[in-house]
Parts: sequence; C-alpha cells; structure tokens
Amino acid sequence: MKPKFLFQVGLICVLALVLSCLMMLSSQAQSTGIQQAEIPRAVDTISKARKVELIRLVRQDCGSCHGLSLKGGLGPALLPDTLRALPADSLLTVILQGRPGTAMPPWKRFLNEEEARWIVAQLQKGFPHEEP
Ligand code: HEC
Repeated sequence: MKPKFLFQVGLICVLALVLSCLMMLSSQAQSTGIQQAEIPRAVDTISKARKVELIRLVRQDCGSCHGLSLKGGLGPALLPDTLRALPADSLLTVILQGRPGTAMPPWKRFLNEEEARWIVAQLQKGFPHEEP
C-alpha cells in the first residue's frame, strides 16, 4: 500500500513539472511573437500615403521660402551639408514652434511630432523628390 502511494505522488509531481515547463515554453513563444509584430510599427507609424503628402508639403510650402530645391531663399538652405551639423531636436523645435521674430512660422497645427521628426531626418540625409 505504502510504496504504491509514494509512486502516485511521484507521478503527480513529474506530471506537474512537465506541464509547467510546457506552459513556460508556450508563453515565451507568445511573447516573442508579439514583440516581433510590434517593433516595426513602433519605429515608423507614418503611412506611405502620408509621407507622400509630407514630401509635397515640404517641396511646396517650405520650398516657397527655403527655395524650390531647398537651396535657400527667404529662409536658409535646408540641405544635408548645413543641417547635418545641427542637433535634430532643435530643428524639430524650429519646425513645430517656428522662430519668433522671423518669417519662420510654426507648423504644429499641420504636423505632429513624429511627422516633423521624420521631415528632419529626411532633410538631414537629403530630402526625397517623390515616393519615400
Ligand atoms: C514664410 C517663410 C517660411 C516658410 C513657409 C518656412 N520657413 Fe523655415 N525658416 C524661414 C526663415 C526666415 C528661417 C530663418 C529664421 C532665422 O532667421 O533664424 C527659417 C528657418 C528654418 C529652419 C532652421 C534652419 C537653421 O539653419 O537653423 C528650419 C529647419 C526650417 N526653417 C524648416 C522649415 C520647414 C520644414 C518648413 C515647412 C514645413 C519651413 N521651414 C517653412 C522661413 C520659412
């Protein structure tokens, strides 16, 4: 009677161990699956259609002051040579808030922070002409 009872307890312990291992493995697989799906979206959530609009906005509206090829006009040139040396955060602030006392207007009504950040990144590496 006694050895059989011990055997049953042992069996239950082994089963519980195996079961918890399986549960751990499956929850790990699930969490890595979720991460893989979410990382690309967190990096860049701007749609391709919106990027086309942003490129048009910069070429037309910004271009009306900064020159149609962004080489400068009323406003300074917005080319990689000059902008690469400047901190992205201060360019972002200029675009969103404008520069008070100058002709540079604020754009925060038309651009959110992520969109303005994307524009800064594109300006610093050479602004695209059409499709992003
Ligand atoms: C009405 C004219 C006008 C428009 C439109 C305009 N800007 Fe400007 N911008 C200026 C002027 C003028 C300055 C220089 C301000 C100064 O004297 O510091 C400037 C400065 C800047 C600077 C800082 C450059 C530097 O070297 O410090 C950035 C970046 C900039 N503009 C980006 C943009 C972007 C992006 C847009 C479109 C979303 C835009 N601007 C639209 C007139 C304009």
